[in-house]
Amino acid sequence: MDRVDFTVNGEQCSVGCEVDSTVTLLDYLRQNLELRGTKYMCREGGCGACIVSAAKCPGDTPQSVNACLVSITSCKNWEITTIEGIGNRLKGYHPIQKTLAEHNGSQCGYCSPGWVMSMYSLLKNKSPTMMEIEQSLGSNVCRCTGYRPILEAFKKFGKDSPDKILDIEDLKICKKEDCNSCSDRDEWCFIDKEEVGNILKYIRLQDNRDWYRVETVFDIFRIWAERGTDSYMLVAGNTAKGVYPIEEYPRLLIDVSEVSELKNYLFDQNLVVGALNTLTEFMTILETVSKVQYFQYLKVLLDHLKLVAHIPVRNLGTIAGNLMIKHHYPSFPSDVFLLLETIGAQITVATSLTKKILKMKDFLKEDMRGKVVCSVLIPPLSDNHKIVTFKIMPRAQNAHAIVNSGFHYTLNPNNRVVSCRLVYSGLSDSFIRAKATENYLTGKQLFSDETLQGALTVLERDLVVVPNPPSPSVEYRRQLALALFYKGLLSLSPKSATTNSRARSGAGKIHEARPLSDGRQIFDTNPTLWPLNKPMPKIDGLIQCAGEAQYTEDVPTLPREVFAAFVLSTVSLAKIERVDASRALKYPGVIAFYTASDIPGPNSYTPAGRTFNLTNEELLCNGEVKFYNQPIGIIVGKSYAIANRAAKLVSVTYSNVRKPVVDIKIAKNDPTKNSMVTSIDATGRGNDVTKVITGENTIYGQYHFCMETLVTVSHPIEEGLKVYAATQWTDIVQQMTSRTLQIEQNRIDVQVRRLGGGYGYKISRATQIAVACNLVAYKLNRPCRFIQSLTNNMRAIGKRLPCSVNFEMAVDAKGVIQYNNFSSYSDNGYIVNEPLINLGLDVYNNCYDKTRWNYKAFNTLTDTASNTWCRSPGTLENIAMAEFFMERISYELGLDPVDVRLNNLDNATHGDLREMVQTLKMNSDYDNRRKAVNKFNSENRWRKRGLRFSFLRWTPAGSLYLDITMSVYHDDGTVAITHGGIEMGQGVNTRAIQVCAYLLNIPVEKIQIKPNDTTISPNNFASGGSLTSQNVAIGVQKCCEQLLSRLASLRTELNNPTWEVLIKTAHSRDIDLQTHGFINMNDVQNYHIYGVTSVEVEIDVLTGESEIIRVDLLEDVGRSVNPEIDIGQVEGAFIMGAGYWTSENLVYDPTTGELLTNRTWEYWVPQARDIPQDFRVYFRKRSFTNDILFGAKATGEPATCMGVAVAFALREAIVAARSEVGLPRNQWFELDGPYTVEKICMAAGTRKEDFKLI
Ligand SMILES: Cc1cc2nc3c(=O)[nH]c(=O)nc-3n(C[C@H](O)[C@H](O)[C@H](O)COP(=O)(O)OP(=O)(O)OC[C@H]3O[C@@H](n4cnc5c(N)ncnc54)[C@H](O)[C@@H]3O)c2cc1C
Ligand code: FES
Ligand code: FES
Repeated sequence: MDRVDFTVNGEQCSVGCEVDSTVTLLDYLRQNLELRGTKYMCREGGCGACIVSAAKCPGDTPQSVNACLVSITSCKNWEITTIEGIGNRLKGYHPIQKTLAEHNGSQCGYCSPGWVMSMYSLLKNKSPTMMEIEQSLGSNVCRCTGYRPILEAFKKFGKDSPDKILDIEDLKICKKEDCNSCSDRDEWCFIDKEEVGNILKYIRLQDNRDWYRVETVFDIFRIWAERGTDSYMLVAGNTAKGVYPIEEYPRLLIDVSEVSELKNYLFDQNLVVGALNTLTEFMTILETVSKVQYFQYLKVLLDHLKLVAHIPVRNLGTIAGNLMIKHHYPSFPSDVFLLLETIGAQITVATSLTKKILKMKDFLKEDMRGKVVCSVLIPPLSDNHKIVTFKIMPRAQNAHAIVNSGFHYTLNPNNRVVSCRLVYSGLSDSFIRAKATENYLTGKQLFSDETLQGALTVLERDLVVVPNPPSPSVEYRRQLALALFYKGLLSLSPKSATTNSRARSGAGKIHEARPLSDGRQIFDTNPTLWPLNKPMPKIDGLIQCAGEAQYTEDVPTLPREVFAAFVLSTVSLAKIERVDASRALKYPGVIAFYTASDIPGPNSYTPAGRTFNLTNEELLCNGEVKFYNQPIGIIVGKSYAIANRAAKLVSVTYSNVRKPVVDIKIAKNDPTKNSMVTSIDATGRGNDVTKVITGENTIYGQYHFCMETLVTVSHPIEEGLKVYAATQWTDIVQQMTSRTLQIEQNRIDVQVRRLGGGYGYKISRATQIAVACNLVAYKLNRPCRFIQSLTNNMRAIGKRLPCSVNFEMAVDAKGVIQYNNFSSYSDNGYIVNEPLINLGLDVYNNCYDKTRWNYKAFNTLTDTASNTWCRSPGTLENIAMAEFFMERISYELGLDPVDVRLNNLDNATHGDLREMVQTLKMNSDYDNRRKAVNKFNSENRWRKRGLRFSFLRWTPAGSLYLDITMSVYHDDGTVAITHGGIEMGQGVNTRAIQVCAYLLNIPVEKIQIKPNDTTISPNNFASGGSLTSQNVAIGVQKCCEQLLSRLASLRTELNNPTWEVLIKTAHSRDIDLQTHGFINMNDVQNYHIYGVTSVEVEIDVLTGESEIIRVDLLEDVGRSVNPEIDIGQVEGAFIMGAGYWTSENLVYDPTTGELLTNRTWEYWVPQARDIPQDFRVYFRKRSFTNDILFGAKATGEPATCMGVAVAFALREAIVAARSEVGLPRNQWFELDGPYTVEKICMAAGTRKEDFKLI
C-alpha cells in the first residue's frame, strides 16, 4: 500500500492506511503530532483559526491554507509550516509573532496563530503595501480585539509603512530567485518525477474508502472503468465541503490536484484555462493575460475574484470545483460561474472517449457522472464590449453573495446595444439570464432614461426570485437585481451620458473605495506609578501569538480516549415516543449512547435556587421537546468525526408535534408566555405635552461567536475526575457534575488555564457540555473529549436575549419627557432560568431622568433554547431602548439628538456626561462634520451619510466570590498567584501581576499566574459582569498587604534589604510566605461608568451596503490599571456591539423553529474591513474611583452598549435617502435590529422610477 509523505516544520511525516477519509491536516497536526498551536473553530474555512503555510511542491513558495479543509492524504510532498515552526521560546520568536503581541493584537489569543500564519504566508509571497495587507486578511476572524491593533501591527510590515520596523530581508522571505527549485517556474508547479519520488497510486483508507492520486486525466477514467462511477469524488482543493458539508465521503476518492494537463493555460482563439487551476492561479493568469490585446477586460474578473472566499480558500479551491458545486447545487451563488457566463465563456468536459465544449448554462444541465471538467474557454473581446460585475455581500469580505450580477454589453460607436448578457445569481435556481430584457435592450440607445425605465419594467417581469431562507427576502433581492442593473449602467456610462451628477454617486462600489483604516487611542498615563497604570501588552500575548499558550482542547490525547457529541431533536415541540440508536451503535467506531435515564442524579446542569439559576435546566431532554435541536442524547465514538456522524444516525419518533413561537414580537402578546419581573413607578409627571408618541422597538439575539467553542476534556483519576473545561465558572461545573453523577465535590477537580473567548457564553452553558463529558468519562471509565461543533453550539445553545418594548410617551417642545409608560419584554427562550433582565433593572433609564418613567419588565418565553449571558446582558438591551426613545423624540420633533439627550439627562446623578459630551464634540469636530454630512447628502443621490451619538451610563452590579492565593518562593523571591478569575482575554492576569508588582515593588517578571483550579481556588463565582479584573486586583491587594505586614518588622530590621534577601530571611525565620485574599459581597464597589460615542456612516442606497466612516468614543475608565488593555476591551466591545446592530442576523424557520443561520457560511460577525475606517478612542481625563480599585473602572462590557450609535447613524442616512422620495424626515419608521443590508436598502423606500441617468 502506498503512503503520503510530507514534512511539517521540516520533519518528515508519512500517512497511509491507518488514517480514514475524515482526517484533515488540522486533525493530524493536533492529534498525531500534538502540534496544538494551530487552532480551529468552524472547520469550514470560515474563521481562519486553523491557517498554516504550505508549499505544495518541494521548495515552492508557501501559501496559506485552511488546515481544516485539507485531507491529510492530499498533502503529498507538501512542506507544511505551522505556528510552532516559525518561532518559539527555544529558537526565538518570529517578528510577526512579536509585533502582534507588542501591539496587543491578541486578547484571548485563540485566533492569534491563524493571524500570524496568514501574515507569514503573505510576506512569503510578496512585499505588500499596507493596503494590500489590510485587504488580504478576510480569511481571519477575531471576536475580541475589534481588529484595529492587529491591522496596526501587521501594517508595520507594509513596504510603504512610514514606521516600517523590518526589512523584508530580516524576515528571510523566500524570494523566487533565491529558490532554485522554483526559480524558472511559471505559476504552475512542474516537478520532475525524480524530485517527488514514486508517484502515489492508491491507499485503502481505514474506513474502507479508496484514495487514489492521479497525474493524468487518463488515470481518472481508468479508475472509473475499473471501479465504477456510482460513488466517487474528485478531490481537487476539497474546499467545497466548507460550503456544503460532506456527511460521509463516497467510496472512491481521486486526488486530482496535481493533474498537470488540467492546470496550465494556453491560447487558441480563446484563452484556455485548465480547470484545475486554483482560484489564486486563475487570478494570476487573469492578471498576466489582461495585458494582452482583447483580454484587457479580464481585469474586471480579477477584481471580482478578489471577493471570492479569501486567500487560503483560493489557494486550495479550483475553478472546476467551484463550477461543480454550482452543478450540484443550483442555488449556490457561484461567482466563478457568474463571471464566465457574463463573458460568454465555455467549458470543456471530457468523457473517457470524447471531449465536448459546452456553453455554461448547458454545462449545468449536463449529466456529469463519470465526466471531467477540463478547461474553461475565455473569449477575446474588443473594446466595444463593456462589462461590469457586482457582488453584494452582508459584510465587506469573506461572505457569499446575496445577489451577484454581471452585465456585458456590446455597443456600437453610438452606444446602441448590439447584443448583451444580463446575468444574475442568488435569485432562484433557474434564473440566470434576463433574456427578455436582453431582447428589449438590443438595438436601443443604452444610456438614456427612456431605455433605462423601459428595461427596468421588462426586467421586473423577467426576474424569477424565490424564497430561499436564510437568504434575504424576495422583495430585497428583486429590488437589488433592479438596482444593480441601474448601477451597471451608471458605472459604464461615459460622463457625458450621465448628466445627472447626483445620480453618479450610484456608480461606485462602497467597499472598494474604503481607505486604509486608521485609529487613535488617547489616554493619560502616570509613569511614576508604573507598573500600575502602565500601558503594557498582555503578559501572555507573546506565547499566544506563538501558539504556545494552552487552551482546554490542547490537553494531549490520552490512550483509550473517546469523543462525545449530542444528538439533537429535529422538531421544536413534541413528545418523544421512541429513541432508536441501533443504527448509530452499529456505525464503526461508536462506543455508547446515553439518554437522560443514564444520569445517576438529577437531570440538570444548572444549580437551581440561585439568583441567576432559578431552576433546573435539563441536561438531556426528559421526553418533552422544548425547542428545535434540543440535546436528547449523547453518542460516544472513537473520534470526533465518528461521534458527530453517528449522532445524526439516531432516529427519534415524535408525537404531538406543534408549531413553535420563536419571535418575541408574537410571544409578548400571549399572556401565558409572560411574567412580570418588576414594575418601577414614576414619581412625577409633566403636563407640558407637545406630542404623544407611541410605538414599539425590538432587537433580536446575538451569537457569542467564541473562537474556542464549548469543549471539555475529562480524565478519570484515582479520586474521581480531573476536568479541563472551557468554562467561565469552575464552581458550577464541579457542583453540577457532583450532583448529576452523585459523587462528592472533592473528587472532582476542575481546571481552566484560559479561554478562547467567553463573552458570557461559557458562564452557564459550558456546564452542559462539561457535565455530559463527565458523565461519559464516569460511565466508561475512559478519558472523554467533548468538542461541540460550531453548528451544534449555534443550534442547541441560547444566545443574547432578544428584547421588545411597547411604549407611550409624551414630550414637550424641547423633547423633555413628560411621561413615559413602557413595558419591556425579555426573551428568555423556553425557560426562565437566568433572568438577565434583572441586570438591566438599574439602567432602564440609562442616564436620563427617570422620575417620569413607568417601567414594567417582563420575562417572556419562546420555544427556543434558553437564552443566556452575552456581553452586557440585560443592560445592553435596556440602554439601547432608552437611547431609542431619545432618537425617536429627536426625529418626531425635528430636534438635535444630542440636545434631546441633554434635555432629558439626570443632571443630579449623571451630570458628568455633560462635560464628556462637550469633550467628544470638540474631539470629533462635530459641528464641522455635521455640516459636511449635510452637504454630502445634498450632493449625492445614492450615497447618504449619517452622524449620530449614543450616551452610556453603566453601573457594575454585585460582586464575586473569589479566592486569591499568593505564594512567594523562598530561594529566589519569585511569586505565584492563583485566583478564581478566568482569563479569557480581558487581561485579568496581566492586571493582577501589575498590581502585585506595584504593591510589592518588584519587577513584573518575578510574578507568574497559575491556572485556575478548584483544588486551590474553590467556590468561585463566575467570571463575568466585567468585574473579574477589579475583584482579582482587590484580592491581590489583600494578599500583598498581608505579606507586607508580615515582612514589615523584618524589613526594618534588615534595613531595607533586597526583595530576595528579605524573602530568604523571612523563610529562615519561619514566616509564612503564602497569603490569601477572599473576595465577597463586602467588597462591592459602587460607581458609574460613562461613555459618549459619535458614529459617522455612509450607505449605498441602491444596495444597502454601508461603511463606518469614523467613530469617536469617549469612555470613563477611571485611572486605568493598564490603559492598553482597556483600550483593547473598549474597542473589541464596541465592534461586537457594531456587529450586533449590523450584520449579525439570526434567522429562524418560523414554522419549524430551526435556526437557519448556524454556521460561518450564514452568520456574519464583523471582519477587519468592517471596522470604522477611522476609530478614535479617548479615555476621560482625571477620573479616579477609589484606592481599593487603584482608581480604575471596569471596561469589559460597557462599550458594547455604545454600538447602538452605528444603528442610529445608519437610520439617519436612511432618513436622508427617504427624504429623496418624499418621505418626511420626522416620520418614524419601524426598523428592528440588526440593520442588515436588506433592511437599509428596503427602508430607503427607493422606487425604480427614481433610477435616472440624466
Ligand atoms: C469559506 C469559503 C468561502 C467561499 N466563498 C465563495 C464565494 O464567495 N464565491 C464563490 O463562488 N465560491 C466561494 N466558495 C467556494 C469555493 O470557491 C469552492 O469551494 C472551490 O472553488 C471548490 O474547489 P475545490 O477544488 O476545493 O473543489 P472540491 O471540493 O475538491 O470538489 C468539489 C466538487 O467538484 C468535483 N470536481 C473537482 N474537480 C473536478 C473536475 N475537474 N471535473 C469534474 N468534477 C470535479 C468534485 O468531485 C466535487 O464534487 C467558498 C468556499 C469556502 C470554503
Ligand atoms: S477552523 Fe478552519 S477556518 Fe475555521
Ligand atoms: S483574541 Fe482574537 S478571538 Fe480572542
